[in-house]
Amino acid sequence: MTYQDSRRKILLEQLGVGPVWTLRQSPTMPVAPGPIEEDIAAHDAAGAAIDAVLPRVTADDGHSSVSMSVPVPAGLDWPALEQAVAACTACGLCHGRTNTVFGVGDRKARWFFVGEGPGRQEDLQGDPFVGPAGRLLDNMIRALGLQRGENTYIANVVKCRPLAADGGDRPPAAAEVATCLPFLQRQIELVQPDVIVALGKSAAVSLLGLQADTPVASLRGRMHTYRGLPLVVTYHPAYLLRQPADKAKAWRDLCLAMTAHAAAA
Ligand code: URA
Repeated sequence: MTYQDSRRKILLEQLGVGPVWTLRQSPTMPVAPGPIEEDIAAHDAAGAAIDAVLPRVTADDGHSSVSMSVPVPAGLDWPALEQAVAACTACGLCHGRTNTVFGVGDRKARWFFVGEGPGRQEDLQGDPFVGPAGRLLDNMIRALGLQRGENTYIANVVKCRPLAADGGDRPPAAAEVATCLPFLQRQIELVQPDVIVALGKSAAVSLLGLQADTPVASLRGRMHTYRGLPLVVTYHPAYLLRQPADKAKAWRDLCLAMTAHAAAA
């Protein structure tokens, strides 16, 4: 066993996958590929649905009463995009934020991980996935033979913390997602990764334009396409912390993502 293989074995054990899922082939080779089907039609429907709501979105979900419009002119470069996010007041989330959380990593990364939105720690530090879920995400990334910041980019669907009335975290509302999504779309457009990993429901349904109540379980195990790029759906690390028994499934999803990455190389 090579050093890399033994390191991966340790990480898989940390992920709770243990001896059940060890790679028998090089990560560049297909590992347990699932049925591959392209959701181009779903993507097109997504695009149409998102385009339909983008010009002007009124929050009607009880989380905000602010009327919102698209904040992202087409073709922004990285510095302009970063500035636009930092200055954004297009939805009510700006009122509860300490910092915007733009995204982190290699802007030429082949791997793009998408989470839901900043939590308390992320809001305080201005970086995505720095709390307990972030530590698990880092282990998942290391299990792929990668490192945060090297060949990986991490961003969220919304760039400000969705603050619940009780001071805790909450999922972003549909109107908040619709307002913020163009930032993420532009980030993906600029990076042009080989594969996108959607971490949890918010990331998956936002990028694929699906109903908000679509179960993650129904999206796992197959390849989707987001604007021509392969997209794999897996469980959110925060969910995996609550349901460690599903870590083995998450590892299978990451193996599927590896096949997409290998195919693109
Ligand atoms: N959960 C997310 O989805 N994103 C973060 O940045 C942190 C927790």
